[in-house]
Formats: sequence, structure tokens, C-alpha cells
Amino acid sequence: MEKKGVEEQQNRIKEQMSLIAHKIMVMSGKGGVGKTTVAVNLAYTLFLSGKKVGLLDIDLHGPNVAKMLGIEGETLRNNEGKIEPFEVLDGLKVVSLALILEKSDEPVIWRGPLKTAAIRQFLGDVRWGDLDYLIIDSPPGTGDEPLSICQLIPEIDGTVIVTTPQDVAILDSTKAVMFAKKLNIPVTGIIENMSGFICPYCHRNINIFKKGGAEKAARTMNVPFLGSISFDPKMVELGDAGIPLASLSETEESAVHKEFKSIVENIERAIQNENLP
Ligand SMILES: Nc1ncnc2c1ncn2[C@@H]1O[C@H](COP(=O)(O)OP(=O)(O)OP(=O)(O)O)[C@@H](O)[C@H]1O
Ligand SMILES: [Mg+2]
Repeated sequence: MEKKGVEEQQNRIKEQMSLIAHKIMVMSGKGGVGKTTVAVNLAYTLFLSGKKVGLLDIDLHGPNVAKMLGIEGETLRNNEGKIEPFEVLDGLKVVSLALILEKSDEPVIWRGPLKTAAIRQFLGDVRWGDLDYLIIDSPPGTGDEPLSICQLIPEIDGTVIVTTPQDVAILDSTKAVMFAKKLNIPVTGIIENMSGFICPYCHRNINIFKKGGAEKAARTMNVPFLGSISFDPKMVELGDAGIPLASLSETEESAVHKEFKSIVENIERAIQNENLP
């Protein structure tokens, strides 16, 4: 894009982002730790509590948000030069590359600059409107995609870092914390996911990996610990079926549901600069 075009887009991004009160990016040091699960349920919980919410999937190689929301096959519309987000629940605004590409099973082969260009469009050319929250789900690691977000939205509220209890995963999440610190982005806090296993038979939490490592790591790095989420086989089924845990009724609640609610409360407290319990 020529210089003038880039400048205009930059201004559009600024303008659009100024209409969104809180922007939060979910990231991790390594893959498969539960970022998308956290991002989708965070957006859902906030939306169900009456907030105006957008959910942006910047995982361009493995955009899973649409699958986890059960909206695969839907497509975004263009309206007067702007992209309209897809709305679930009549109002929760979702944007993902999976809702743009015709075939979601074909790999996206893009170099860094093209990825940044796509993310610029997601921020500047989507009609987000005024929102209380924009939740951003990123691919694993500290690559082009989260870097673009931090550069394009320098006023971002912070990053939520998801990890699992194993030593290597926690070591990797340290890199995500360092990444945020280097870019002067606040770390909203760390979540330990798959923290113990809820036995489907006895319903007790069995400690399969070492629990509690993320909380210790958070203390060492002087960043907030937002809470832990148990491993619950039901979550895998729900994820595959496109049903967010947060959409289940009270009667279907699992321990994970309660853990998640407490984490969302802690995230809301953390971005309002309140102390966590
Ligand atoms: N607490 C949990 N209990 C059981 N399964 C879980 C839990 N959290 C996530 N999962 C499952 O683990 C798998 C990976 O989760 P998810 O896709 O959210 O991870 P991710 O960090 O976004 O992965 P990627 O790095 O590939 O983007 C999914 O099948 C999901 O349903
Ligand atoms: Mg993901």
C-alpha cells in the first residue's frame, strides 16, 4: 500500500480503537494451552453480563474461534467499504480469517508483512462500533501477529497469558511476559489451564502435572495470577461441538465453569487497576 493509504488506514485504526473502552489480547508462549478456549469464554461471559463485546481472531494459520463458536461456514459481509463482523447471540461481534476464506482447511501461506496487513484491516476496516471490550485471540508464541497488535494498539489494556502447569510451558510463558514488558504492554495476568484433571467418574481433581507452577512464576515475575482452570474432558467435547462452556446453564455447571467465572472477575478487576483477592 502506498504511504498515503497506510497513513489513512492508521488514522482509521486510531479512530476505531478509540471507540473501544478495553482491548485485551490473549497469548501464550506455546501452542495448545487453551488460549482460544479462554478468549471465547471470556468474550461470552462479558457479553452475557451485558457488556458490548467484540472477539477478534488473529490466529491466521489456525483460526479456531469460529469452530469453537459453532459458526464455521458463515461469512463476513462487506457494507459500504467496511467489513461487518459476524454476530453471535444477536450482538457478540466476531471476526476471524475463517469467516473470510472460503475453504478453512487450506493452509494460509503468508509472510510477515501480509499478516500485518491483514491485522491492520481487522482493526481499521471492520465496523466494530463502540464496544466495552475487544478480546483478541492470538496464535502461540511471540511472532508477527501479537507484535502487530501491540504496535497498532499501543494503548491496549494488557495481555492475558495462558500456560499449563508443566515446567517447559511455564518457561515458555515467561517469554510471553518478557515480550509484553519489552513492548511496554501491561500484563493483565497469568492463567494456569489444565491444572489438575477432573475425573469423570469420581469428579475429584487429580493432580496429573505439577499444579501451582504458574502462580509461583507469576509471583517471581511480579505479575498478577488470575487463577487456574482444571482439565475437564467435557471441555474438549464442548470445544469440538462449538458450544462455549460459558453458554451452559447453571444446572449444567462444572467446576471449570466456576473457575472460569472467578478468572473473568479477576480480569475485570485487573484492568480497572483493582487489587486481586
Ligand atoms: N481446561 C481444559 N480442559 C480440557 N480441555 C481443554 C481445556 N482447555 C482447553 N482444552 C482443549 O484443548 C484443546 C486446545 O485448546 P485451545 O484450542 O483453546 O488452545 P490454544 O492455545 O488456542 O491452541 P493453539 O495454540 O493451537 O491456538 C482444545 O481441544 C480444547 O477444547
Ligand atoms: Mg488457539
